[in-house]
Amino acid sequence: MTALLPHTSPAAPYARDGHSVDLSRVHALTRSQLVEVEAQLRNLPDLQPEALREAVIHIVAAGGKRLRPAITVLVAGLFSRADDRRVIDLASAVEMLHTATLVHDDLIDGSLMRRGAQTLNAVWTPAATVLTGDYLFAYAANLAARTQNTHVMSIFADTLSVIVAGELQQQFTDFALRATREDYYRRIYSKTASMFVLATTACGVLCEANAAQLEALRAYGHDLGLAFQIMDDVLDFTGDVREVGKPVGSDLRRGLITLPVICYIETHGKDGLECALQGRCAPEAYDAIITRIRHSDAIQRAIEEAQQLGQRARAALTGFPPSPYRDALMDLVDYTLARTH
Ligand code: IPE
Ligand code: IPE
Ligand code: MG
Ligand code: MG
Ligand code: MG
Repeated sequence: MTALLPHTSPAAPYARDGHSVDLSRVHALTRSQLVEVEAQLRNLPDLQPEALREAVIHIVAAGGKRLRPAITVLVAGLFSRADDRRVIDLASAVEMLHTATLVHDDLIDGSLMRRGAQTLNAVWTPAATVLTGDYLFAYAANLAARTQNTHVMSIFADTLSVIVAGELQQQFTDFALRATREDYYRRIYSKTASMFVLATTACGVLCEANAAQLEALRAYGHDLGLAFQIMDDVLDFTGDVREVGKPVGSDLRRGLITLPVICYIETHGKDGLECALQGRCAPEAYDAIITRIRHSDAIQRAIEEAQQLGQRARAALTGFPPSPYRDALMDLVDYTLARTH
């Protein structure tokens, strides 16, 4: 399982961004904590069998942007707690939970590449892949338990239920409903924004935030998470596989109706898209439809929707006193909207 792309160094997780968002503030404020998170993610004492150990190291070492743990560290900084040991534990737990969901997600989606490397399901049986994902969920729970905070543990468990229920719901929703905004936003809250909310609110709980502060952190995580997934869905149409590190142009083929498709239908109607909306086009027909959507105004409209959510995420933080940490959380909004991988 060799990486197709050089992975990012743990100390500079966003270094390969080819765009203009300045993340120097984020780097400066999270670098030392993310090094500790990285060590924690790779510290797998006595993990057997060896194949499982290698698989877990492979997944963790393949990189990833480490966005969620960076958010947790920055939120802690709002409360002058960025160096609290339990913040590192929580940040590690969130990233491990994210990694576990990716292992299962790639199996469910039949994706063969992630973070520029082969996925586990590309090289292992479904049974071994599911069990490895389960192991990572357990490991994530263990890391969360190190915070010794039952409220944090309960938020963690609730988030996992939301993600799993959302994924199941996605399996059971019939095609007629998938092309609605309501269904789309419900889906992306469950699978993505809920984990951003975990990264922010569980940290708020650790830092003894008051009710208004917790609500602000929830709103920031919620809106940033939605914007993040919308941009991921845009990248599925516009991205370059070498940069994104995972297959592109694949959502619609897999029956996943995302915001660019919904925006396209709103302006141009369903003509010519019927087979895609029912998940039964011939492969060449998908190529033509995807090209049509990619070159339409739907992409820009989806991006504008993400930008509005980004604005809301920024606004949610305005109740916190100005600080470099607050500025860095705002920078992450810009990054989310401009990212190319
Ligand atoms: C991928 O998340 C899954 C989505 C929610 C779209 P990331 O894009 O944060 O993945 P990594 O961790 O950087 O690989
Ligand atoms: C990922 O959903 C969110 C998870 C729950 C893991 P997607 O299937 O849209 O993410 P990618 O595009 O494979 O990363
Ligand atoms: Mg997927
Ligand atoms: Mg998926
Ligand atoms: Mg995607």
